[in-house]
Amino acid sequence: MEIKFAIVTASSTRSISEDTAGMALESLIAENPGWSVVSHVVKDDDRAELAAAIVEACDMYGANIVLTSGGTGLSMRDVTPEATRDVCDRDVPGIAEAIRAYSMQHTRRAMLSRAVCMQRGTTLVINFPGSEKACRECWEAVADQLEHAMKMTAGGGH
Ligand code: MTE
Repeated sequence: MEIKFAIVTASSTRSISEDTAGMALESLIAENPGWSVVSHVVKDDDRAELAAAIVEACDMYGANIVLTSGGTGLSMRDVTPEATRDVCDRDVPGIAEAIRAYSMQHTRRAMLSRAVCMQRGTTLVINFPGSEKACRECWEAVADQLEHAMKMTAGGGH
């Protein structure tokens, strides 16, 4: 099945060539036949900039799934969940819950991520934390359900 992904990294310090978390996600996505990355950007930890990047990924690049990386923590500059809420319609709490539950097996600090998962129209937007390690673990937590999620989004049955 074809799935188009976009990656939006939130970082005030990293450039695109230093975005090892985003690059790791690109490689993990590419391991799956038919799955591709249509856009990968790094934006400041800025609510409006991140919201605009998510909109662009959905509406301009036609991404089926947007993975954000970073900006989910407790510091006041962490605004990725707020940016996600600003431009999405519906909560998908089960995915965020599954990511946290799986991540807690790796580090109890997983409880410190405020990551959300939501739909903007038919695009699924999933927040991951910012480190490469965390992104790899969060990917492991959800990857096997993404194809079915896309089928359900398109109105398919089980
Ligand atoms: N989740 C996983 N799977 N692995 C991790 O190493 N790190 C945690 C948490 N979630 C982590 C994780 C830590 S230390 C923090 S502070 C929060 O994610 C928020 O990270 P962020 O601010 O980079 O988004």
